Amino acid sequence: MQFKLAVLPGDGIGPEVTAEGLKVLQVISGRSGHRFDLNEGLIGGISIDKTGSAFTDGTMKMCRHCDAVLLGAVGGPKWDDPQAKVHPEDGLLALRKGLGLFANLRPVKVFPMLVDSTNLKPEVIRGVDFIFVRELTGGLYFARPKRQYQTSRGRRATDTMTYSEQEIRRIVRVGFELARTRHQKLVSVDKANVLQSSRLWRQVATEVAEDYPEVNLEHMLVDACAMRLIQNPAYFNVLVTENMFGDILTDEASMLAGSMGMLPSASLAGVPQEGVNVFGMYEPIHGSAPRRAGLNMANPIATILSVAMMLRYSLGLIAEAQIIENAVDAVLQEGYRTYDIMSEGKTKVGAKEMGDLIAGKV
Ligand code: IPM
Ligand code: MG
Repeated sequence: MQFKLAVLPGDGIGPEVTAEGLKVLQVISGRSGHRFDLNEGLIGGISIDKTGSAFTDGTMKMCRHCDAVLLGAVGGPKWDDPQAKVHPEDGLLALRKGLGLFANLRPVKVFPMLVDSTNLKPEVIRGVDFIFVRELTGGLYFARPKRQYQTSRGRRATDTMTYSEQEIRRIVRVGFELARTRHQKLVSVDKANVLQSSRLWRQVATEVAEDYPEVNLEHMLVDACAMRLIQNPAYFNVLVTENMFGDILTDEASMLAGSMGMLPSASLAGVPQEGVNVFGMYEPIHGSAPRRAGLNMANPIATILSVAMMLRYSLGLIAEAQIIENAVDAVLQEGYRTYDIMSEGKTKVGAKEMGDLIAGKV
């Protein structure tokens, strides 16, 4: 098969980790005979520098003609001025909205060989393996009105949390579809004791549950969920929640895995189902880490695992995805570590070396 991929390396360590992801993909190509036609584009700060915009129509068009998008990271101190007209993050939001990427999948898995590199007790995090489904194109991030303004009594600002039942239904469905291939357990996270949008969320989730009698649905308040994630994270298997709650909870959850450098993500434009390829954008959950950029230090594992997710959800190459995941396991098992997951007695390597090691196991 031949696939068209858009590659948006972005800023900071973005280009370095993307290169390692593509290195692994090349080996997959050589092994499987599948061809990956790569189309590079600009996003974020580098796009602002070169075009004045964080994400151009041209890049958007290019992405639309591809089967999937691989993204590095965006942002950096150079573009941080709050007074600036455009920010690198605008590019990411435009990409999500413009490509209809409403379903953000963030798996959190604690590798047994890394249980000692986190801040939590090993007995708390051992066996943690869940997936967050975050709504990505609605809620406070996008809904209108959204503005700052002057009033006679001073400045005011408004963001709006609004969801339609269609928006809720499609994202909750993603949660159910994943739950049904995993442990038949779905936790829907909301704030239904206070927010109207959450009450609708809860009603719709309960309605969708009728289509999935084999899945057990539990509603959980977002504050209780934040607590449970630290107290007993192994309790969870699949979670689904709205955009802002998901933003906060997934950063919290990422710390269970020891380093953000380990965690991949997928942002899909459809509901993932067996045998169906959905368009998606794939990126590590970490940022551009400007202080580490250009030093060959960054952990490329999150990006390499994002490539695996791309093969699984957008290209239908399930076996190849598994091969990459096994290769990552094997290299960690052999004791190789980047700086962020380094511990005593292990072998420290740079980004390129880690990429080479994983590619070598594919
Ligand atoms: C994320 C990030 C983004 C978000 C930022 C960079 C806009 O925090 O992907 O979680 O808030 O969605
Ligand atoms: Mg975030």
